[in-house]
Amino acid sequence: MPLNSIERSGERMADQPRQRNLKGLLLAGGKGTRLRPFTYTGTKQLVPIANKPILFYAIEQLAANGIADIGIVVGDTKDQVVAAVGDGSQFGVSVTYIDQPVPLGIAHAVKISEEFIGNSPFVLFLGDNFLKEGISRYVEQFTNGGHDSLVLLSPVSDPQNFGIAEMEGERLVRVVEKPQHPPSNLAVIGIYFFNAKVFDAIRSIQPSARGELEITDTIQRLIDDGLDVRSEAIAGRWIDTGKHDDLLEANHLILEDLQPALIGSHDEASRVEGRVVLQEGAEVVNSRIQGPAIIGERTRIVNSYIGPFTSIYHDCLVADTEISGSVVLEHTRIEQVGHRIEHSLIGRNVELHGHERRPHGYTLILGDFSKLHMP
Ligand code: TTP
Repeated sequence: MPLNSIERSGERMADQPRQRNLKGLLLAGGKGTRLRPFTYTGTKQLVPIANKPILFYAIEQLAANGIADIGIVVGDTKDQVVAAVGDGSQFGVSVTYIDQPVPLGIAHAVKISEEFIGNSPFVLFLGDNFLKEGISRYVEQFTNGGHDSLVLLSPVSDPQNFGIAEMEGERLVRVVEKPQHPPSNLAVIGIYFFNAKVFDAIRSIQPSARGELEITDTIQRLIDDGLDVRSEAIAGRWIDTGKHDDLLEANHLILEDLQPALIGSHDEASRVEGRVVLQEGAEVVNSRIQGPAIIGERTRIVNSYIGPFTSIYHDCLVADTEISGSVVLEHTRIEQVGHRIEHSLIGRNVELHGHERRPHGYTLILGDFSKLHMP
């Protein structure tokens, strides 16, 4: 079935009471340059965290709040997103795909979604953002408050690298992009609530120096126009998984709450300790798995040690190797690596072979289809 630039599909609604007016807009386009090499061949928002694509956490959080009418803005990697998310029925939502041929900015992605949004208020969720506590509090605050916008903020240690909120008491008065002299340590995060007035604001802003329609300029315009823009500093953890270390951190955060499930198999010679998930068809042979850890579908772990906070995705082989605190993507083979692999991100279809001699202290960022032979 061809998917046209705006196409609606899937009619099943979430089990939760439906937020009649609130729609969801998820951004799954962009370039993903900071997450290379993983984004050369795969969509940034589909990189798995604890063996689940990061985008799925956002969809599930929207669905959990009864937000069942969801637009997903897609770019070059549309086919992959459509293949993974489909019509949304697996989440109990209805998904509309919106094409963004060129990533001209977050506000541009909102602008081209006007037909989908119509007059509804909506939550804009960047598809690579992760909010551990979920969005329920803010959905309620926005829907009950009748505000024009609710902007979520989170304290950061390096405010020079973010869009930062300038506050006057409780009031948000300005958003400054990557300030040299930050007025606060509160960063604007990738989850925002708007009503349809945002489209007028976007129409009146100009592209920034980097050629993008910026969401920070849009928020500033709403404030300058005297609209009711509220902000809220979130209580829980927020991660923008756009960079390598952030992915490992998100993996750690999710595995902290992992519910054990041994669906795959392990032999008697193996020890499976702590909170471990062996997904369907996973096989553990003569190995030790120390949770929290998750082993993907059809993945084989042979004569190996898998340490805490490790996610090995589907169809992998780990043999005669120790690996801990790491994320491994699908179809990768790691064999006979003489030194423990730690704090590493290893892509798809990687082949990693070691030999008898033992090198020291590798920290690896290996792209898809890498082949590394370590003598
Ligand atoms: P960014 O991380 O700001 O941009 P990017 O994805 O191009 O990544 P990088 O800076 O590493 O090159 O984007 C935030 C989110 O918004 C991300 O999920 C991608 C999405 N996005 C779009 O869908 N369309 C766009 O035009 C832009 C700029 C981002």
